[in-house]
Amino acid sequence: PEIERWLDEVPRPGVVEPVGKKDGNPYYEVEMREVEQKIHSDLPPTTVWGYDGQYPGPAIEAQQGEPVYVRWKNELPDEHLLPVDETIHSSKIPYDTTGVRVVPHLHGGNVEHTSDGKPTAWFTRDFEQTGPKFEKKDYYYVNDQPPATLWYHDHSLGITRLNVYAGLAGLYLLRNDHEESLGLPSGEYEIPLVLQDRSFNEDGSLFYPTTGSDTDSDPPKPNPSLVPQFFGDTSVVNGKAWPRLSVDPRKYRFRILNGSNCRYYNLKLFEYDEAAETTGTDGPPFTLIGNDGGLLASPVTIKDRLEIGTGKRADVVVDFSDYAGQTLLVHNDATAPYRGPDIDGGNQQPLPEIMVVEVASDDVRDPSRVPDTLTEVPEIPVDSVDKERYLPMTMSSDDYGRPLHLLGSDAESSPHKLYDPVTEKPTLNDTEIWSFANLTGMSHPMHMHLVHFQMLGRQPYSEYDPEAEMIDVESLEPPTPEETGWNDVINVNPGEVTHVIVYFGEFEGLFSNQTGWYMWHCHMLEHEDHDMMRPFRVLPDSE
Ligand code: C2O
Ligand code: CU
Repeated sequence: PEIERWLDEVPRPGVVEPVGKKDGNPYYEVEMREVEQKIHSDLPPTTVWGYDGQYPGPAIEAQQGEPVYVRWKNELPDEHLLPVDETIHSSKIPYDTTGVRVVPHLHGGNVEHTSDGKPTAWFTRDFEQTGPKFEKKDYYYVNDQPPATLWYHDHSLGITRLNVYAGLAGLYLLRNDHEESLGLPSGEYEIPLVLQDRSFNEDGSLFYPTTGSDTDSDPPKPNPSLVPQFFGDTSVVNGKAWPRLSVDPRKYRFRILNGSNCRYYNLKLFEYDEAAETTGTDGPPFTLIGNDGGLLASPVTIKDRLEIGTGKRADVVVDFSDYAGQTLLVHNDATAPYRGPDIDGGNQQPLPEIMVVEVASDDVRDPSRVPDTLTEVPEIPVDSVDKERYLPMTMSSDDYGRPLHLLGSDAESSPHKLYDPVTEKPTLNDTEIWSFANLTGMSHPMHMHLVHFQMLGRQPYSEYDPEAEMIDVESLEPPTPEETGWNDVINVNPGEVTHVIVYFGEFEGLFSNQTGWYMWHCHMLEHEDHDMMRPFRVLPDSE
């Protein structure tokens, strides 16, 4: 459908309040429900799935050091909103459950494994049926990590792409007093922006494709069939299509989440002539103050594009004070599929326009500031490494000839599927280097549950020797600003190895001790659902 651009204002996601206490801690109940929501004033209402009946879900506001309990309640209908491909993990998934399988995961949360929302811990309405790893109804989030822009989203085995696309995602903002004392823009000047791409049918319903491009294959592909990647043709911000954001000429803090299924964003602000639909000179830069795992040590002014891979967060400040009375465009030049920041050819599903920002003309007072020092980010020492893992990402095909992206555990063994035995078994309090080697044709945003890691750098695959005693960190291409500090998703471009260093345990008092089963995977949801996901297991420290 033709949807008029820049008509509706960007809404602010709600905030969910606890319903009471459990063991003296805030206790939340968040119900997943099917609702109708106006995604655009010209579109008929769209049926979506929302936490607390809202898409995106309401933010959970938590304080470092104050644990919370959440009971995620499944009140979704009997049937799925979108076409389900029953060939995915067909021997492990009962596709005939009454009601939809869900399991919420706190992305970026250093949480006990029984509350992590792993894919096989799914549950149906009223917990009538549960998956093999389901352990409890009330999830416990210890909140013992630096303040950060976390998010929660569905992670149900084999249908994560559909459940998230239907609307099951929201922000989880962890704060502390130190951050509060910095004087960053706050209150109405701190705005979460959940960026997603969606497609719609004429009647306003969500469009999600049911077949890949190649349909006459042998054996014939199932219908509906999982698609290799999904890219929508409409920019949706906080649940509004092609929206506009009205701001005052002053500083704002934006908590940006890339909540798209597969799309990357490379963002830049331009002056914009709405009537002529043309962009002019550069708008204000993004000042990056934090990413996935919390604040950076110091703010960084992004000179060109701000890259936000699928599943990642960017915590930025933008100063609109020199742009009073002007209109700006948030422009995206990331290709779809993504293949790295400097590629512009082969953009199969571009989405260049994300939203418009209208800066009011009246002068305002702006007491907020961005201090030169934000926090301490202690470096994980490379000489403390106990193990290096070479993790090749490769292409294969499934039983129906559909492309299959897989993860391996070393050079020798064949790439693994989700249900192959666990190969990554770090010991608590060990330091490891995980070297993600991309032998496929597109970038993948690699994510680890439980931990935040530090990016050491990247290098061409041709220059990487997995047999070498130790990687030479000095010789690597250093992390971009978006990749400094604490991350839980890292971009790995084709033909390249990205090395991250990770500490499994309490690092300088910042992260909590956890053992047990977690997941690591590509955060392109179609890949994740289709075997580009593996378990890792943190073993107890025997000493
Ligand atoms: Cu954002 Cu395993 O997930
Ligand atoms: Cu991928």
